[in-house]
This record gives sequence, structure tokens and C-alpha cells, in this order.
Amino acid sequence: MLKSFSFFCAFVLYCSSVFAQQINIIPQPLSVTEKTGNFTITSSTRLVVKDKKDNATASFLNAYLLEHYGFKLIQVTTDAAKSITISSGQQGEGLKASGYQLQSGMDGVHIKGNSAVGSFYGMQTLIQLLPTEKSTALIIPALLVEDQPRFAYRGAMLDVGRHFFPISFVKKYIDYLALHKINYFHWHLTEDQGWRIEIKKYPNLTKVGSRRNGTLIGRYPGKGNDNTMDEGFYTQEQIKEIVKYATERFITVIPEIEMPGHSGAAIAAYPLLSCFPEKNTDIPATMISEKSKLELASGRVKLVQETWGVHTDVFAPTEYTFKFLEDVLDEVIALFPSKYIHIGGDECPKDAWKKSEFCQQLIKYKGLKDEHGLQSYFIQRMEQYINKKGRTLIGWDEILEGGLAPNAIVMSWRGEAGGIAAAKENHKVIMTPGSHVYLDNAQTKNRDSVTIGGFLPIEKVYSYEPVPKELNEQQAAFVLGAQGNLWTEYVANPSKAEYQLFPRLSALSEVLWSSKENKNWPAFQVKMISQYNRYKIWGANYFEEKK
Ligand code: ACM
Repeated sequence: MLKSFSFFCAFVLYCSSVFAQQINIIPQPLSVTEKTGNFTITSSTRLVVKDKKDNATASFLNAYLLEHYGFKLIQVTTDAAKSITISSGQQGEGLKASGYQLQSGMDGVHIKGNSAVGSFYGMQTLIQLLPTEKSTALIIPALLVEDQPRFAYRGAMLDVGRHFFPISFVKKYIDYLALHKINYFHWHLTEDQGWRIEIKKYPNLTKVGSRRNGTLIGRYPGKGNDNTMDEGFYTQEQIKEIVKYATERFITVIPEIEMPGHSGAAIAAYPLLSCFPEKNTDIPATMISEKSKLELASGRVKLVQETWGVHTDVFAPTEYTFKFLEDVLDEVIALFPSKYIHIGGDECPKDAWKKSEFCQQLIKYKGLKDEHGLQSYFIQRMEQYINKKGRTLIGWDEILEGGLAPNAIVMSWRGEAGGIAAAKENHKVIMTPGSHVYLDNAQTKNRDSVTIGGFLPIEKVYSYEPVPKELNEQQAAFVLGAQGNLWTEYVANPSKAEYQLFPRLSALSEVLWSSKENKNWPAFQVKMISQYNRYKIWGANYFEEKK
């Protein structure tokens, strides 16, 4: 009896601390010390920012307050009583550059970043302390938070090739990443089904490659074609706008230009990129649009793909193709300041290379072992070009086949084996295993909408440990972090994209940011009660398990 009474008291205390003080920070910080008292933010609270490198952080906070609570703070450059002060540059003992300290209490809120990015993350933690009901008096608890990320690479990918997403949603997606302390946005810009980035030297890439005549209905093999034009691309001005938007949120945009596979839209624009320029694009009769049938009948040869899967018409490893890709990368590199450039490298069937006389002769001439050796030759050539421009190549784990390019970073998606092998060869690795972080998978067993298949509940995302136990400490240091991938074959609009993203992005943020010791599934579930309310105030679509 006494035992159950004391458990009851502990439970009440736990609940009162969790609910009364509203400390539900996602991702869980390194340390949180509760203090007594609280602080109330109103429209008369000043926002003190002395150094202009913290202006972007102040602007994000004010935009957030205005959008979700209907007021913003007056920004000043001199100390003020009972204010929110954002500063950066004070190196905390032993904290990383992206670390910060947040102190809140009766006299205000002090966010001190170890650098401007640190203060940005401190501000994100402040947002996590705000009540989730709209009010003009926002009470936050007294606390001391000391924090820093576990992994240097915390990523999320959006595939805009299978379905085009408007610039407004790309910005929203970046905001969602910022709200979860994610620092890399991997932008999958080219696919068999659509080329989405303007390249001035090759106008057909967007004139032809960004438009497909129709799309498969339902899950592959589907129920015919919707016969509806699907199109869209980003101009170079829009790309610059996105890069700037992300930079203001301390997010690096990594562009992905797929090669040598998943290149059907580029081939539709410039058929000479194919091993067989005279051969029609393969779209089964039950899947092709009426318009494409007519176009083929009147002499069109190559089409932008209208169905999903892995396609055999891939880039030919000719000098024409290499020149084309180098020209494309010149424009891409000029647009994206990212140190990393992603060249895909996944799912390149070797059928065409096996049949092509040119490819077979090239294999012999270069002394390559086989078509995998040819893929390796292709990637290594592109790596040399990218390295010469001062950038680093990232590729999906197929770039291991036939020999890894010397400085390449491997994104391990077919499980962890590729990442383990690469780390053992002293290559940097980003973990993105389909089993744990593919956000196109379903969140219910009975699949409440059409998805690619597979079942990936939030608990499984949360359970993910990016450092495989097969690696020793020295090898483990090559694991830069991990990334969630949102492929969009079956995600045709922003609302569905949000539904696939939430709540799993919140779990992923804790995998990437929080220390291993601080991860706690039961505590995370309690914190999610507030987080779901936050999704509501954001106006985001999300999945929630029926209890
Ligand atoms: C991939 O999912 N094909 C990288």
C-alpha cells in the first residue's frame, strides 16, 4: 500500500513537472535544469540583438511569433530589462560551435550561442518552450539548457523529380527542417520523370524534360495513365532564392543531379545522351498516356517517363555525355555554395551498356573489369571534375561497386552494409537506410493511402542508431550522421508530403541531435503530445496513430 502510494506521488510529481512547466523540447537537449519561476513574453518584451550575425535568428523568431501568436517583438541593440537577449560567440566550456546555452527566468531569456548557428538553435529551443495555444502572454518556464548536436550531418531529402513541388512548399519544408535543428536539405532535382533545374546552356532540359504527358494511376503496376500533364521546374533565380532562404536558417542545400541512371528526362531532352538514341523510351502499353502514344506514332523517340521503377535507358559514358554533365555541373556549382554535390549513382541497370558496342570497347580500352568497372570509371571522372572545382562528391551506395572514387562520401540506403564498408575504407558516410528513414513508407499496416509499400512507424524511426555496432571507434568517426528521405512517386502534393513527414521528422531530429544517453522513447511520447499541438498551430498535415 505504502509502495503504491509513493509511486502515485512520484507519478503526480512527474506529471506536474511535465505538464505544468511544459518542458517538452524536441529534440531533447544535452542538459535541462529546471529553475523556479517563469517568464512571460508579450508584445512589450524587447528582443536584444547586438551583433548583426544574429539578425536572421531574430527575424525567424519574430516571424514565428507573428504568424502563430499575432504579435512580434521590437528589436533593439542595447540591453533592456526583462527582455529576450540573443548573442553568440561566447564559447561555452567544451561545447561545439553549434552549441548554445539558454537561460530563462524572472528577468528574461538569454540565448548565448557558441556561434551564430548555436544561437539559432537556442532560439529553436525557445520556440519549443512556447505554449501551443494562441495567446498574447506567452509563459515559459525558468530553465537552464545547455546543448549541442550529436551529429554534424543532420539531413532530410525531398524528391521533386517524381512530383514537382512549388517554391512556396520548398520554403515550408526548409522551415520544418529548421524547426527540428536539421542542417542539410538534400534536393533531389532530376529523375526519369522530371528535370527540375534550369540549365541555361541546355534549355531543352526544362523545355522538354520538366514536362510529362501523364502519370501512372495508383500503385505500380497501377490502373492506367491519368493523361494529365505534370510539369514544373525552378529557374536559376528561384534556386538562388531557396539557397538564401536556407542559409538564413543555417541549412545547407545539397543539389542532386542523377547519373548515370535515373536520367530519362535528360535523355528525352537530349537523346544523344543515351546509348541508343534511336530507340523508343520503354513505357508499357498499359501505362503510357494517350498523348505520348500519338507523339510516338508521329516520330517522337524519347519520352519523359510516366511510370515508376528502375529504367534501363541511362547515360552513355561518351565524351558528349561527360561534356554535357560538366557543363551542367558548372551551372549547378555556381548556384549552390554547398561543399557537397550529390551525383546519385544508384540503380543504374547495365542492360544498355552490355548491348552497346561503344561501351564494350570502352571497357576493353580502359582495361576495366566489366560494366560495374565502367560505372566506377564514370563516377571517378565526375569526382575528379567536382574535386577540381573544390567540392566533394556524394553518391548513393552503388558508387562502391567496381571501386570507390577516392574522396567520395557514401550515402548508405540499401541497409547499412554500404556505409559500413565505406567507413572501413576510411570514407565519410551518411546513413539513410530504407529500413528506418525512408519517409515514403506507410505509417499504418493497412496503408491508409497509396504509398511505395513498407511499414515504418515513428517508433522504428526513433529506434534508429546511425553508428553501426560493426564499426570500431576510429571507423565510427567516419559516420557524419543520417538523413530521412522523402521520395515522391506516391506523394503528389504538399499536404501528402507533410503527412509522410510528420510525426516521423520529430523522431528523426532526436536520432540526429540528442545524445544516445538522452534518447528515451516513453519520455519522447509524452513530449509528442505538445508536438502534435505544434503541428496544429503550424497548420501542417500529419499522421497520428489511433489509440
Ligand atoms: C534510392 O532509394 N534509390 C537511393
